[in-house]
Amino acid sequence: MPVSENHILVVSPIRPRHMDELAAKYILHRWDQAADKDAFLANIADRITALVSTAGVGVPSDLIEKLPNLKVITSFGVGYDAIDIAACTARGIRVSNTPDVLNDDVADTAIMLLLATLRNLVVGDQWARSGQWSENGAMALTTSARGKKLGIVGLGRIGQAIASRAVPMGMEIGYFGRNQKPVDYHYDADLIKLADWADVLMISCPGGAATKDMINADVLKALGRRGYVVNIARGSVIDEPALIAALKDGVIAGAGLDVFHNEPHMDRGFAKCANVVLYPHHASGTVETRDAMAQMVVDNLQSWFASGKLISPVN
Ligand code: 8YV
Repeated sequence: MPVSENHILVVSPIRPRHMDELAAKYILHRWDQAADKDAFLANIADRITALVSTAGVGVPSDLIEKLPNLKVITSFGVGYDAIDIAACTARGIRVSNTPDVLNDDVADTAIMLLLATLRNLVVGDQWARSGQWSENGAMALTTSARGKKLGIVGLGRIGQAIASRAVPMGMEIGYFGRNQKPVDYHYDADLIKLADWADVLMISCPGGAATKDMINADVLKALGRRGYVVNIARGSVIDEPALIAALKDGVIAGAGLDVFHNEPHMDRGFAKCANVVLYPHHASGTVETRDAMAQMVVDNLQSWFASGKLISPVN
């Protein structure tokens, strides 16, 4: 028997060990596993005070409306663009996320994609694997990271972790964002100008309406035919048809992408581009980081039920 009478709706589960911990403490309702979700909800909706979900799945707005006593949403992930925060705040529903614990793995992935893209890792792997190396000799030359300009779109905690890795690699850092920060990097309040300045445009800003399709055909044109895009933020930040066209037509040199529109059903157009390195939204996907994120969900719930306070509140 769970030790508390608190009823929690699971919209998307966290790590198995942490789900066991939640099941030992609270009464869990597995909405994620229900075949007929409306029938499932009809019997329990009034009892639900807390909800657990993940950044990728988020919380459908109509579901929030069906839970009259919902007080808290604890989300597994730093991004909360798939949760209507304004609607939650208006209803007095508090939301938490899992910031900081994933910064290093996400920043490492950003650098991994940057290097893999500039140094043509996937082409090189195929070159060695397929026997072309022994048949045709060395693969084509690639391009250095050292000496290149890295334009970071969104210098938040993850953007700063990326910059701190790129500096010792010999890259010059610039950034675009709503506000200038107390850092020595080159700031540009105009995204087109930053793209024009940069050799690599690194997308690390939040998703959502404010940044939707911000990296459009004009930005890609300004980045230019020797420029690269790396995106570890959200697929929604890039106008995807414009990016696929730019990759195909040589408007830019290449891209390294961890995130896409309509995940996991990635636009197959990317698979046809040789100048793109793809990763299946897995920047935080290590055992260590996912465990730390899951622990933050558990800790936020624990804190909420004990004191009415969240340890990492969003609103
Ligand atoms: C997801 C992410 O949390 O933190 C984020 O915002 O996008 C990821 O770390 C993960 O894919 C689970 O949804």
